[in-house]
Amino acid sequence: MSKKNWSGRFHEPVSELVKQYTASITFDKRLAKYDIQGSLAHAQMLQQAGIINVEDLSAIQAGMQEILQEIDGGRINWSIDLEDVHMNVEHLLTQKIGDAGKRLHTGRSRNDQVATDIRLWLRDEIDAIVALIKELQTTLIDLAEENAAVVMPGFTHMQVAQPVSFGHHMLAYVEMLGRDYERMLDCRHRVNRMPLGSAALAGTTFPIQREYTAELLGFEAICQNSLDAVSDRDFAIEFTAAASILMMHLSRMSEELIYWMSPRFDFIDLADRFCTGSSIMPQKKNPDVPELVRGKTGRVVGHLLGLITLMKSQPLAYNKDNQEDKEPLFDTVDTLVDTLRIYAEMMRGVTVKPESMRNAVLQGYATATDLADYLVKEGLPFRDSHEVVARAVRLAEEQKCDLSDLPLNVLQSFCELIKDDVYEILTPEGSLNARNHIGGTAPAQVIAQIARWREILKSN
Ligand code: ARG
Repeated sequence: MSKKNWSGRFHEPVSELVKQYTASITFDKRLAKYDIQGSLAHAQMLQQAGIINVEDLSAIQAGMQEILQEIDGGRINWSIDLEDVHMNVEHLLTQKIGDAGKRLHTGRSRNDQVATDIRLWLRDEIDAIVALIKELQTTLIDLAEENAAVVMPGFTHMQVAQPVSFGHHMLAYVEMLGRDYERMLDCRHRVNRMPLGSAALAGTTFPIQREYTAELLGFEAICQNSLDAVSDRDFAIEFTAAASILMMHLSRMSEELIYWMSPRFDFIDLADRFCTGSSIMPQKKNPDVPELVRGKTGRVVGHLLGLITLMKSQPLAYNKDNQEDKEPLFDTVDTLVDTLRIYAEMMRGVTVKPESMRNAVLQGYATATDLADYLVKEGLPFRDSHEVVARAVRLAEEQKCDLSDLPLNVLQSFCELIKDDVYEILTPEGSLNARNHIGGTAPAQVIAQIARWREILKSN
């Protein structure tokens, strides 16, 4: 068994149980490339500052190159005796290059090292995530464009309220995802700050040049307080919060896809390749993917709660508790990336059923508000017109027909202000076209919003 590199102070080796319990290599090996990236920048800075010589730097660089190749080739035996990725990499390096490898840790601690590694890793993952958000937005915009003039019932309280364009409904999610995109990029600024140089907690006695290391690593700022830099994981919590909100949006959409696909609604169909059958009921086609997205949302929100609870009672500065930040964070990223990918693919396979949607609009008196607005424009106060229309709806309900099926003389019996032009606004299409202002559901507005979004997606 190899000795821990802090073992000089101890009288007996660490217990096997404790070793298993405290090791993180099984999961933090995922950070290996970022650990090496940080180490290479640190070594370059040490040389620049005259703390190590050029020969040591060259040896470190050559040794790390070899290790990177071994990682790529899957040839590394990560050792639990060496606890974590930082000590594993350092040990591999020292085996290859001797004393130069041991000098790498000058002016540094695993505490600032791990905080730096996670930030470098998360920065890359955020870049991948925002690209996937844009891809999903593009898919939804395409779907909106094909269906800009398709009417569906808009709901409040899950009751048919007013007709809306299916394209408008899709664009509602494009807006939500647009804010998720902003949240991710905003969070990225706080992720992209460098803890390195904080050492264990108080800084270091060596004449380090933190600005130089930060520049090498592409950090946009340096953490300005060493105690804060090694201990806080608020950037990870913030990321997980942004991830939770994004998942919450996708979960809402999933809920809609699930009931739209139910034969009770029959508004859409999902491609067969996104559904599963039942082992006992031959007629079934189940929307497993949106259901799992809904389920996985709970998992990501759980990680947010886990991380915030992990942090909440920790005194300054670093505590081993923080080793527990990685698995929830990794799982949040993996879940989010997989979900965004599958979602874009799934939405490309959605079949829209305009006929059933239109029938649902007609069954729900969705144009009642339009009739009320019509009467107001003819001079009736809104409260009175609301009453008139309510009585007309009651009659239509009794006769099991739509408002537009009531003959003119019947409508006029409720209010003589009604003329035969009323039938234009009583149709779902008339209702849609009448809401022609920014944010409204008129197909012309939907088309304008699509153009606006295509510009936005092009420019960033
Ligand atoms: N594996 C540790 C972590 O993930 C690295 C830092 C350990 N530092 C320490 N002083 N024990 O947080």
